[in-house]
Amino acid sequence: MPAAPYDAIVLGAGAAGLMCAGVAGQRGRRVLVLDHAARPGNKILISGGGRCNFTNIGTAPDRFLSANPHFARSALARYTAADFVALVDRHGIAWHEKTLGQLFCDGSARQIVDLLLAECDAAAGHSGQVEVRCGDAITDVAHADGVFRVTAGRQEHHAPALVVATGGPSIPKLGATGFAYDLARRFGLKVVEPRPALVPLTLPGEELLFRQLSGIAAPVVASTGKTSFAEAALFTHKGLSGPAILQVSSYWRHGQAVGIDFLPDAPAGWLRQAKRDAPRQTVPRLLARHLPDRLAEALGERLALGGDLGNLPDAKLAAAEQRLSAWQFTPSGSEGYAKAEVTAGGVATAGLSGQTMAARHLPGLHFIGEAVDVTGWLGGYNFQWAWASGWAAAQAL
Ligand code: FDA
Repeated sequence: MPAAPYDAIVLGAGAAGLMCAGVAGQRGRRVLVLDHAARPGNKILISGGGRCNFTNIGTAPDRFLSANPHFARSALARYTAADFVALVDRHGIAWHEKTLGQLFCDGSARQIVDLLLAECDAAAGHSGQVEVRCGDAITDVAHADGVFRVTAGRQEHHAPALVVATGGPSIPKLGATGFAYDLARRFGLKVVEPRPALVPLTLPGEELLFRQLSGIAAPVVASTGKTSFAEAALFTHKGLSGPAILQVSSYWRHGQAVGIDFLPDAPAGWLRQAKRDAPRQTVPRLLARHLPDRLAEALGERLALGGDLGNLPDAKLAAAEQRLSAWQFTPSGSEGYAKAEVTAGGVATAGLSGQTMAARHLPGLHFIGEAVDVTGWLGGYNFQWAWASGWAAAQAL
């Protein structure tokens, strides 16, 4: 076998892979990055509506889902949102906080890809080297005598360390695959069943009334089980979307209900109080003061509370208050990987070191980014995990 010309091969030139390569290169390592897509950073380019929500200043371990909620702690603590912001600042990229700690580029997501590629190039100034090669399918990965052999296109590459950063299968048309899971299983690691997350939910036929509200959004509190999010919900022609629903979708399991509080700011007893204050008011007109007209109409129809408030019994109004604060939808499913912003589940953390992201039984083999069973909330958390896990692996290369 020829001598390994690289210290590490990184599979996947996305957020985590490029971060890892740049940091390792600047630690003097010779790194080869391979990606089957024609160009690096495809998901970064379309992220955040083209402006890349590159981190969240509220990053904390409890904003990530994983079979082991403690796994992400170490990496997130060692490379923080502030560290990435400092990097963005060093590159002179202007940014702003949009809402809820979410940081976006003022200009374009392209700036973040350029930042990562520039960091890779900067390896040369630190006696390192990063080579990014795109456009060749990876056809074989093998390991023998402490060396990983990767076949891509017609070439074979060798290195003592392999970093798998090929993400999850969300948005297959961008080149996303479940490659990392197959590789993990082949090397004896377990995979927590992957599922689409941060994804719109679909409603069954009997909820057609709501599907007719397509395009209407309202600030709500959406919940499933014990988890709830106060953000906007959006009705679509297939069901429910908007940030509140995307957040809840990561926690939702088939058969579970999703509750929506349409009037989270309304005080207890508000309808009964309105009856006393304005007995000639109707429920739909009252709802329209707080909600978009068509939504107020649809809810009013469903509540079947016609006529003046003054003529409606308190018990019925109390039941309506209760229903409006916890409207139950039972989604028929989700819009799947084609529309999922991320994949929950992935390479089981039980077999990985939280310090180095390496397989416990094969320390040269690392898994980082979305491929791992760590999934962030909506709002820049998934990129922060990509940066932090990529940085952690790079320290061990
Ligand atoms: P990533 O998907 O970035 O990279 C994986 C790379 O591996 C890709 O370049 C791919 O081509 C390559 N690859 C895959 N299979 C391969 C194979 N078999 N062989 C070779 N190469 C292979 N997050 C966030 O925090 N803020 C945001 O604003 C957004 N916005 C957003 C919008 C949309 C539309 C989507 C789909 C996703 C987001 N995300 C997001 C999520 C975020 O993009 C995602 O979590 C990270 O890109 C994950 O980084 P990774 O490096 O792990 O995978």
